[in-house]
Amino acid sequence: MQPPSDAGLLRRLRAAGDDYLCGADLGDPAQVAARVQVLREAGYGIEEHPHFGYRLLSSPGRLVADDILSRLPPSRWLRDILVFERTGSTNDVAGNLGRQGVAEGLAVFAEEQTAGRGRLGRTWQSSAGEGLWFSLLVRPAWPPALWTRLTLWAAWALAQGIERATGAEPALKWPNDLYLGGRKLAGILVESNPGQGNPFAVAGIGLNVNQESFPAPLSDRATSLRIETGAPVERNGLAAAVLEAVDRTCPGLPGNFPEMLHWARERDFLREKWVTLSAGSSTQEGAAMGLDEDGALLLRLADGQLQRVTSGEVTGIAPAAP
Ligand code: BTN
Repeated sequence: MQPPSDAGLLRRLRAAGDDYLCGADLGDPAQVAARVQVLREAGYGIEEHPHFGYRLLSSPGRLVADDILSRLPPSRWLRDILVFERTGSTNDVAGNLGRQGVAEGLAVFAEEQTAGRGRLGRTWQSSAGEGLWFSLLVRPAWPPALWTRLTLWAAWALAQGIERATGAEPALKWPNDLYLGGRKLAGILVESNPGQGNPFAVAGIGLNVNQESFPAPLSDRATSLRIETGAPVERNGLAAAVLEAVDRTCPGLPGNFPEMLHWARERDFLREKWVTLSAGSSTQEGAAMGLDEDGALLLRLADGQLQRVTSGEVTGIAPAAP
């Protein structure tokens, strides 16, 4: 019998709960003992009983690729998970691998990013061990004009994973943020390379998970799952829930756009709010009237004109028209 992989061993140990897992059922005892030792060195507390076998007592508080894998059903899209202790930006790691021709279906996580970036050249605070900072390598086989839909897809999959893991129901702040309790919980940065050759896109996701507070001036506008739910969140389980949604929905792209649009319209944070929209050097104000069938924001300007907005950033939000 083949010894189980580390992910397989973790899956079985977790499924056994408080019960012991008989070593002989797992394969060659020496090989199983070696795998157990590897997991212990990775920070897992695994008890060994001379008669009953092995029992999982504790898990490390950090991200472990095999742990995430051990919680996932058989995959359709996902091929590999990488976890870095520290890197500049996971978008750069995934982008470099994309340029080298690595197949799609890759998720790159980092416990800490030293040069995490957001939209419009901003810095993304990616403190060690407190969030999920990760990037997905995608190679869409559809027309470049539709690649903009990747941002909505990433938001949709992320929201499904968050809801499954924590019960929280974030809203979409068009075009690329998730909000909870009126503040920003997550941001998405899609960087694409749809040119010749072997085109790819990188969907970078920054999700605030276990921060207990944020320094000013972020404190007014940022939040975390821990702040909103009142409890720390186990990040390997959360990452697996998000990747399960990614894995389930990515193969359906772009045909499942109506489904994600339905979600986006139901969870539209901006709807019926008075917003300021910045696009390049111009700003406009108006009432957000929802999303059209292509996912563009509809803005009712002060003069009554309905404007269709395909890109930009909402910088000011007030409850209703002044
Ligand atoms: C934004 O709200 O402006 C988008 C933030 C995106 C942050 C994520 S964290 C993982 C990935 N790596 C990066 O450098 N950025 C994205």
